[in-house]
Amino acid sequence: MKKIIITGGAGFIGSHVVRRFVTRYPDYEVINLDKLTYAGNLANLRDIEDRPNYRFVKGDITDTVFLDELFAAERPAAVIHLAAESHVDRSISSPLEFVLTNVVGTVNLLNAAKKHWEGEYDTHRFYHVSTDEVYGALGDTGMFTEETRYDPHSPYSASKASSDHFVRAYHDTYGLDTVISNCSNNYGSFHFPEKLIPLAINNIKNKRPVPVYGKGENIRDWLWVEDHARAIDVIFHGAASGETYNIGGHNEWKNIDLIQLLCGIMDKKLGRADGESARLITFVKDRAGHDLRYAIDATRLKQDLGWEPSLQFEEGLEKTVDWYLANEAWLQDVTSGHYQQYYAEQYGG
Ligand code: NAD
Ligand code: DAU
Repeated sequence: MKKIIITGGAGFIGSHVVRRFVTRYPDYEVINLDKLTYAGNLANLRDIEDRPNYRFVKGDITDTVFLDELFAAERPAAVIHLAAESHVDRSISSPLEFVLTNVVGTVNLLNAAKKHWEGEYDTHRFYHVSTDEVYGALGDTGMFTEETRYDPHSPYSASKASSDHFVRAYHDTYGLDTVISNCSNNYGSFHFPEKLIPLAINNIKNKRPVPVYGKGENIRDWLWVEDHARAIDVIFHGAASGETYNIGGHNEWKNIDLIQLLCGIMDKKLGRADGESARLITFVKDRAGHDLRYAIDATRLKQDLGWEPSLQFEEGLEKTVDWYLANEAWLQDVTSGHYQQYYAEQYGG
């Protein structure tokens, strides 16, 4: 029985990773370690919560005593670390939260692994899930490779870059078996509606303005979240110690084009006239330090481990819209309470 701690398993990507590992590897015991911040939601895992090889532990990765006791009691063979503060706009208003969870929390986990796995580093693995935003912004051409120099611009990406450096330092200095992956923008089910796609779906559904920052010319490389979870599986099992892999969708979209596409899909699904939803598009003040373009070169991952994205974006986006329309209660639940206050502060009422 292999015991794995997955941190941040109640969040968007983490819940897909937990589901994949629990259902695909019945001989693994999966412990979902999550603080349940505003972004963590156990409803994301209802379908697997009764599986015998799954357990939830509520805890905070900034709490060193808790981590020490957890590692001593559970003796995990591996950590897949996704817990983080993940929203760029929140990092602009509250940067310190991002330092605490993303930097200090990661170092706390590394320290727990270093202490409790001492003498057995070659049979234990620390997998750190990171982002393409550590590489900064691209101009009109080029792609991020694993060799691209780090150049983060937002407090979020600076905190993720810092955590990546600590993970590499623990590999190089202490010999911990570590792996890092840097992924592009994910989309799919259970995505919290502070991020562009689910926020736009929710607003279009409710006939509210769809806020597009600046002129909508920024470009992101979108990947279906289940393809990310599969990449994490493949890398966790196949990567050499100390390795880094970029993960991306080969799927660049200008924000405004993406929103136009989404509006068209929503018109069709909601039985609205062509162009009705697009009238909700509202250009608003740009994000401070807004990175122009991200694009991932995932050649290394394809060549070494055979991973490629499985889903075309148009199909994936339609599936995602279907999921949100079929899961009204989930959306209602996460957009009540604190969300309303966040929305008013971010978008002005
Ligand atoms: P998310 O915000 O949906 O989920 C984060 C989870 O971490 C939540 O369940 C939250 O409760 C938990 N958490 C936060 N602080 C914690 C703490 N101190 N202790 C324990 N748990 C805590 O994030 P996501 O979008 O699923 O991203 C997951 C990871 O993947 C992050 O590390 C992020 O940087 C990275 N990533 C995200 C994307 C993306 O497009 N969303 C792309 C590339 C990489
Ligand atoms: O690239 C990977 C990153 O993708 C992850 O590391 C982050 O955790 C994740 O949040 C995401 O970051 P982005 O900032 O790219 O995602 P977001 O959905 O916030 O924004 C996508 C684009 O849409 C970006 O150019 C900003 C723009 N945007 C966003 C919001 C929320 C708008 O135009 N309007 C909005 O209301």
